[in-house]
Amino acid sequence: MANGRRVIAVGSGKGGVGKSLVAANIGIALAKRGQRVILVDADLGGANLHTFVNLDAPGRSLSQFVQRRVETLTEVVVATPIPNLSLISGARDLLDVANPMYQQKQRLLRHLGKLDCDALILDLGAGTSYNVLDFFLFAAHGMLVLAPEPTSEENAYRFLKAAYLRRLRTVQAVYGIKPLLERAVAEFNARGLSAPRELVGTVRDIDAQAGQQVAEEMARFRPLLVVNQVRNADDERIGERIARICRDALGISLTFAGAVPFDDLVWKAVRRQRPLLVEAPGCRAGRAIEGIVDLLLRGAGVAHGTEDVHRHFRRVALDASGPVLPRAAGGVRPRSSEGAAPGLAEPELELPLSPDRAPATGDGAAVDGSVLQAVRQARGLSLEQVAERTKIPCAKLQAIEADDAAAFAAPVYLRGFVCQFAQALGLDGDRTARAYMRHLEELKARAS
Ligand SMILES: Nc1ncnc2c1ncn2[C@@H]1O[C@H](COP(=O)(O)OP(=O)(O)O)[C@@H](O)[C@H]1O
Ligand SMILES: [Mg+2]
Repeated sequence: MANGRRVIAVGSGKGGVGKSLVAANIGIALAKRGQRVILVDADLGGANLHTFVNLDAPGRSLSQFVQRRVETLTEVVVATPIPNLSLISGARDLLDVANPMYQQKQRLLRHLGKLDCDALILDLGAGTSYNVLDFFLFAAHGMLVLAPEPTSEENAYRFLKAAYLRRLRTVQAVYGIKPLLERAVAEFNARGLSAPRELVGTVRDIDAQAGQQVAEEMARFRPLLVVNQVRNADDERIGERIARICRDALGISLTFAGAVPFDDLVWKAVRRQRPLLVEAPGCRAGRAIEGIVDLLLRGAGVAHGTEDVHRHFRRVALDASGPVLPRAAGGVRPRSSEGAAPGLAEPELELPLSPDRAPATGDGAAVDGSVLQAVRQARGLSLEQVAERTKIPCAKLQAIEADDAAAFAAPVYLRGFVCQFAQALGLDGDRTARAYMRHLEELKARAS
């Protein structure tokens, strides 16, 4: 891996928000500044990144690599019409590629780590599957894109929590603290807590030294947020608000990297398969993307650049023989791993709010009490104010935020209350209630 090479992964809770647009044009902007960029279409189910850089679907793509028809990723890198910019096109119509096995994913990450370039940009599939999260965490810059839509905030929290917990699993595996974390999860659940920060706090309560170590590792999870398709001043404020909630309520240090306006020139360029920053570099959306690149180059949101866990991810990608981890000071030490890479192995530990527990229905994210609480706080509302508006007693609202179904005589009442609660927060009542009830069912299924 070239020194100082930048890896940027662009993800989103749902599709169609502008991931590919942002990924492609960040790549173009860096290429224009003289960096040798490789764009990777890692949207393994819906590859279309080539259309953003004025290419027809190239003959060579990830398919060949995944099917082992070529030995190295370099063989499927294709040039684009833009100087300094190359592309690894995504696989098409291949189920086995859309859901790569663990070994395939590891091989892919390993080879990505070997590509010779200054910047590697991964355009990810939507959602929070382990595949998406592992690519997101592999990158030093994990960038979440969202569009201002009713459920986008919930989606963003869900994505970030999922990535946070996936990273926590890696920390757990690297430091060999599974029993400690299991105990913390049990206490966390028993105390009705729900924010990621509180889970780390619980680890600390049990073992101060190890907890400190875990807290430091998790504090280095510093994703970036881009809000795309912004149409007005309200939309523009979403980014800062989500970043604040993430910091204050969830304990995740999210950096708001910029808002990209909705711009007719964008969809016109996309429709004609013309790269935006080539076709209309001075347009509002183009300038916003250049601004995000300025921020990246200044080092914003370098999530995992220096510490053990990210080094671990990168070593895994670099070296099949397994990571060599530096000794950590304090109570827990990263354990050396033989053979399989613990961070990328499928998890052994069941963490709360596990992303993969959420049903993969098209109905959006599961919503838990901490999300409602975070949104309520973001709206600047106290429980008393919501109680006043909804005529729901404070204790019940509190129980909803704590995912405490036992406080309600029957699910139907709980559902009704959640619906009203959500409406008072300006959310879609029915949808939120459905998602919330689904989340509780998952919790129950896990407990039994
Ligand atoms: N800032 C924007 N202004 C106008 N249209 C946009 C903007 N961003 C994205 N679009 C439109 O939305 C569509 C989806 O964008 P895309 O990048 O393909 O999303 P994703 O990769 O997240 O699925 C694009 O085809 C484009 O027409
Ligand atoms: Mg896309």
